[in-house]
Amino acid sequence: MLMQAVILVGGEGTRLRPLTYGTPKPMVPIMNVPFLARTMERLYEAGIREAILAAGYMPQAIVDYFGDGASLGMKVTYAIEETPLGTAGALKNVEEHITGAFFVLNGDIFTSLDLRAMLQYHKEKGGAGVLHLIRVEDPSAFGCVVHDESGRISAFVEKPPKDEAPTDEVNAGTYLLEREILEYIPAARAVSIERETFPDIIARGKQLYAYTTNDYWIDVGRPEQYLAAHRDVLSGAMPLAVEPGISGEGADALRGHPGVVPPVHAGPDVVVDASATIGPNLVLGAGCSIGADAAVKDSVLWDRVSVGAGAIIEEAIVASGATIGAHARVPRGSVIGHDVEIEPGTALEPGARVGAPQRGAPS
Ligand code: GTP
Repeated sequence: MLMQAVILVGGEGTRLRPLTYGTPKPMVPIMNVPFLARTMERLYEAGIREAILAAGYMPQAIVDYFGDGASLGMKVTYAIEETPLGTAGALKNVEEHITGAFFVLNGDIFTSLDLRAMLQYHKEKGGAGVLHLIRVEDPSAFGCVVHDESGRISAFVEKPPKDEAPTDEVNAGTYLLEREILEYIPAARAVSIERETFPDIIARGKQLYAYTTNDYWIDVGRPEQYLAAHRDVLSGAMPLAVEPGISGEGADALRGHPGVVPPVHAGPDVVVDASATIGPNLVLGAGCSIGADAAVKDSVLWDRVSVGAGAIIEEAIVASGATIGAHARVPRGSVIGHDVEIEPGTALEPGARVGAPQRGAPS
């Protein structure tokens, strides 16, 4: 069966601001590659050749990168929402493109989930659809999903207080749905799949099944999680084809450098002064430069970031083209936007977010 996948990529990504002022969340790089490109690879590996991208916020960056999908060996179609339609409204909006059962992927989930195995499970169970679930320690920030031993879902409980959570199994943002569910989504208004459509489907007596796995899973939509995802790839906890130690196209230039503390992943044309210290848990984008006596660790720097002499960066994310002045301090939790210049000697507070919407960008 030729499967289609709808990827929900229309969110504004407010929690990743200021990064998402310049780059829509699906195009934020993971290990120097746009996140959505990783998701597309996963689809391809699972034998899926058609993706429908439900976009809205800064769609042009997505269209420019993927085009019609031919370079990936896939067919990519876009549905661009003038106003956000919500996670189910976005599906209703692409109804004309859907030919049969289809996957739905939240655009910000980084996971090792095996989509083929999920499809097999759906074939065995039947019903209107399957939801991927994972177990979490604290379900209070998630949508709990209650099911019986056969996997049949009986209730959805959004963000319960921790001690009232009915289960530790939560909606993990990947679904496999029969086309008929589109009939139950009202047209031309914003609709949430978690809050409205799924509860409505079971209220109608249709079956939805839970598919719980212990795969690697993380929502990269918050800075802490974004950094954690990188740490997990570098440590091998998230399986991705990355060499241990010093990796990436720029690795050769760093091997033998006395100040490199692995794991470090570097893009091409990275320049690191001989007296600088970099790593562990550091990802450098293409063309980054690190000045004399600078120290950068536990961070992700996008392309062309310039770090001045003696600057210190820890547990931070720095977007493309930013300049960190000499002897500046960029401490834990800092998020620096595109092309921002941090003046020499500046000491930022932990958790500082520096960067404003760019001119001409959607507000
Ligand atoms: P925050 O603003 O930080 O909450 O991020 P977000 O706007 O992306 O929202 P959230 O993380 O809850 O969204 C989960 C997934 O659904 C993401 O992949 C979003 O891109 C996507 N999404 C959320 N709302 C919409 C929508 O109205 N339309 C479409 N097409 N996708 C959406």
